[in-house]
Order: sequence, then structure tokens, then C-alpha cells
Amino acid sequence: MNLYEEVNKRKTFAIISHPDAGKTTLTEKLLLYGNLIRSAGTVKGKKSGKFATSDWMEIEKQRGISVTSSVMNFPYRGYHINILDTPGHEDFSEDTYRTLTAVDSVVMIIDSTKGIEAQTIKLFKVCRMRGIPIFTFINKLDREGKETLELLEEIEEVLDIETCPMNWPIGMGKRFLGVFDRNKQELVKFNGNEEETYIPKEELELDETLMSNSTYLEAMDEFALVEEAGNRFSLEDVLQGKQTPVFFGSALAPFGVQTFFDNFIAMAPAPGGRKTTEGVISPDNPDFSGFIFKIQANMNPAHRDRVAFLRVCSGKFERGMDVKLARTNKQIKLSQSQQFVASSRGTVEEAFAGDIIGIYDPNIYRIGDTLITGKDKFEYNELPQFPPELFKKVTAKNVMKSKQFKKGIEQLVQEGAIQLFRQHRTESYILGAVGELQYEVFQYRMQNEYHVDVMFETIGERIPRWLNPEQKVDPSLFDERNMLVTDREEQPLVLFKNDFSLNWFKDKNPTIELIDLFEVN
Ligand code: G4P
Repeated sequence: MNLYEEVNKRKTFAIISHPDAGKTTLTEKLLLYGNLIRSAGTVKGKKSGKFATSDWMEIEKQRGISVTSSVMNFPYRGYHINILDTPGHEDFSEDTYRTLTAVDSVVMIIDSTKGIEAQTIKLFKVCRMRGIPIFTFINKLDREGKETLELLEEIEEVLDIETCPMNWPIGMGKRFLGVFDRNKQELVKFNGNEEETYIPKEELELDETLMSNSTYLEAMDEFALVEEAGNRFSLEDVLQGKQTPVFFGSALAPFGVQTFFDNFIAMAPAPGGRKTTEGVISPDNPDFSGFIFKIQANMNPAHRDRVAFLRVCSGKFERGMDVKLARTNKQIKLSQSQQFVASSRGTVEEAFAGDIIGIYDPNIYRIGDTLITGKDKFEYNELPQFPPELFKKVTAKNVMKSKQFKKGIEQLVQEGAIQLFRQHRTESYILGAVGELQYEVFQYRMQNEYHVDVMFETIGERIPRWLNPEQKVDPSLFDERNMLVTDREEQPLVLFKNDFSLNWFKDKNPTIELIDLFEVN
């Protein structure tokens, strides 16, 4: 098989959702189809966020698939599927966001009983920023939930993306009859279990039970309206992230999951070209290249090693190959490559664009690093920084340790584990993170790797807005409520206490430019 064929076999995606929408349940079903696990109920342990701060290799053993499952891969109908996990719950952090820079498409699960929830919005924004195609699975149709049209409207309004239902649910909860498949023009009947029956459209009118079922008739009337006046399906718009195909089903039953997956696989893009400092690099470019989007430190002090997660972007990765770290021009031998496969961590012999490999990191890599071979030198576009939401002041318990404290902070910040700010005038260190877990990890690593006990003083959730450095702004406008700080690049920003303070400030100071780095256009 040549490079081009290998690349086109790959489907690399992440599943985004709010906790409890059914991500684990759906993932499990996909792994079953891929014969990766033998029975459902194997993907477990996620409920306890406490695991995350102990030895992650140990956790892997305990949790089985769920941590190793940072990346799951399996063959399916001639394709090579890579699913990247986006940790939620207490594990929600910048890593969750960064994972989305390493995928080619995204599956968004929405709980039909809840509609769009907070974490989905956050993750969706990142996909939107990057123009990643999004495929929607509306889950839990076996329960009483929101009306179909209401759900579609909510997606369009809250997320500002066009929807195109690919199948139409008939009833819900106890009255759930199944879905009408628009493509195949057939009713897929839900029998309360895994068995699905298919009735072609022509036969539906002959079915007297259906013809006298008000749930069926109402749903089909509604569907007729959507057929007539709804959005037209456009694969082009889907691939540009402007339209999302919507599927309905139940991950638990399971119902509609395999149909969803088959359609998803058919539509989802294979790895494409990626932007670098020297232009776009094609995935079938013969020279190997890739970038690191996540570094996982070993929490066990006896094992200082870490694993860097690399997304292959071009060429062929081979075990033991020599690569160059573009940032430093240093030559490195990638001997201990590991690929993360469900229950065992196998060694990877080769990998292609779209694949994710875990490589041993003797503390030389940084998040966003590019590895290359060949004579051309380039770097993949910098990974975006995600505005932190939680802020804490940090100090060393023992002032005598301030030297190690500074060294530790600088290294961990450089690694991308957490973001650092300095308060105006007082120069205190303020850390910013997306989730609580990052603080726990930071504290643990400062203690174990730099032998410094740190103390936190919570500042809480804040809304960061960058100032225009060209604009002269009077520092006395700010206080502990709306805190003036500088980021690592010495750029000034304000940590506003809440929406109210932000709007109040804007009203009072209409000429001061406030920049939201996370704004989606
Ligand atoms: P998550 O990974 O997105 O957090 O969600 P997960 O799959 O763990 O699902 C959350 C809960 O919702 C689970 O119930 C799960 O069984 C249930 N669930 C998932 N899909 C469906 C569905 O299609 N229909 C219905 N009715 N329920 C669904 P739980 O009781 O919280 O967990 P468990 O004790 O069963 O593990």
C-alpha cells in the first residue's frame, strides 16, 4: 500500500460532550464494532477524578482502557480508526482543548433530555475556530427528552451552525418507535433491544398499526415539513464546519449507533494538509513530520519519564528512526515509541498521517514542538493558547526555596502544563488553568520534581481580556476585583471578576480596547 492509500484509510476524531451525555457508552459501542473489546462495561472508572493525580501508569492498570484510551485505534471496514479522548469532569484541562488540534473531525454527543450544555459549548468553540467538521449524535432517545425541532433549533441558535437531520426520530421514551432514515428512505424500527428492523418507505403505508399510531403520524408530518423547508444536505458545508449532520439514537440500547458510525466514516475527512511556517505540508509527503500536542508526566517520583503525544502529519513513522526537533535542530532517535492501544500498550513499528504515537520524553519536548525528517525545515503552526478560567496566586511555603520555586515554575510553564501571569506592581505569581486538575498536578510536580511545597491563594474564576499594548491605559483603573496582570510575553491583560464587572468597565471606559483571544467569528 502506498502512502496516499494509507493516509486515506485513516479517520482520526474526538468525541466531545458534556459529562453524562453518553460519551463512554458510545465509545464502548464503537470499540465493540471494532472488536477491540469483547463486552460492554469495560470502559470504566472515569467517575473518579482522584485517579488523575497519582501515577498515571498505575492508573492505566487500574482503569484499564479509560486512561490508556487517550488514544484508541482499531480497524473498521477497511479503515483505520483513531479515537482521541477529550477528558471531561475533573480532568478537564487545556489538554482537552489541545486534543482537538490533533483530530480531523469531531463527534458531538448531545443528551436529548438536556440539550446543549456548558462543556459542549466550550469544546464546540474550539472546533469552530479551527473549522473542524462536526457530526452530531443526539442520544438517549429511549428517554423522554426535548422535542426534535426544539433540539435542532437549539443547536442552530446556541452553536450557530446549520443542522441537517440525517434521520428523523419517531417518538421518544416509552413511545420511541425508531427513526426514519432519509438516505435509505426506510423506517428503522426500535424493538427495545439491539435488534433493528427495517421497513422500506413503500411498505409503511400498508402497515395498519403504524397508520393508526398517532406518534408515528405526528412525527412523519413534522418530518415532511423538514423535507420541504429544511436545510439541504451539503457535504462541502459539512467539511468546512458550516453544517452538522444530525443523527438520533440511543448509545445504551444501542440503537442507531452503527448506522451513525457507518455514515460518519463515509463522510468524515481523511487527514489533510496542515499549515506550517513553510506553507501547507501534504499528508502523503514522503518525509515524516508531526507535532506534539500533549505531554503526560509520570506522577511517580521514581519514574521521571514522560510521554509526548505526537500527531503524525506526513510521511511514514518507523520505529528507531532519526528525526530532528525543529525548534532546536537537534537530532533524536525515536526508539521507544509506543502507540496507545486499548488494553495493552503495544509498540508501534510504523505509523502514518492521522495516527497518534506516544514517544518517550527525556524532558526535551514542549507542547507544540514539530519533529521532522528530510532536508526541509519547518514547524507546524503554533498551538493556540486557551484562555484559562481559574486563577490562583502561588507562593513557596518556604521562602528559602525561592530559587527552586522559580526554576520549577518556569519549566512547568514552558512545558505548557499551566499558564503564568505576574500581577502589576506586586509582581506576585498568578497561575491560570482551564481546570482544577492542572493545579493538583502542578503542586504534585513542584513537590516531587523541584522539592518545593507551594501554597495557593484562590482568586477564582475570572474573565481574561487582553489590552492593546499600544494604548496607554491608567493602571489605577484596576484593583483586586479587576486585576491588571501581564502574561509570559509581557502583554498586559485584565482578569475581570465577572461579566458584570466587565460590562461595567466597558461602559465607563468605552475607548479602552479589550481583546477576547477566544472570540469566535
Ligand atoms: P459520559 O461518558 O458522557 O460521562 O456518559 P456515560 O456514557 O457514562 O453515560 C452517562 C449515563 O447515561 C450512564 O448512566 C449511562 O448508562 C447513561 N446513558 C448513556 N447513553 C444512554 C442512552 O442512550 N439511554 C439511556 N437511557 N441512558 C444512557 P449512569 O446510571 O449514570 O451510569 P452507570 O451507572 O450506568 O454506569
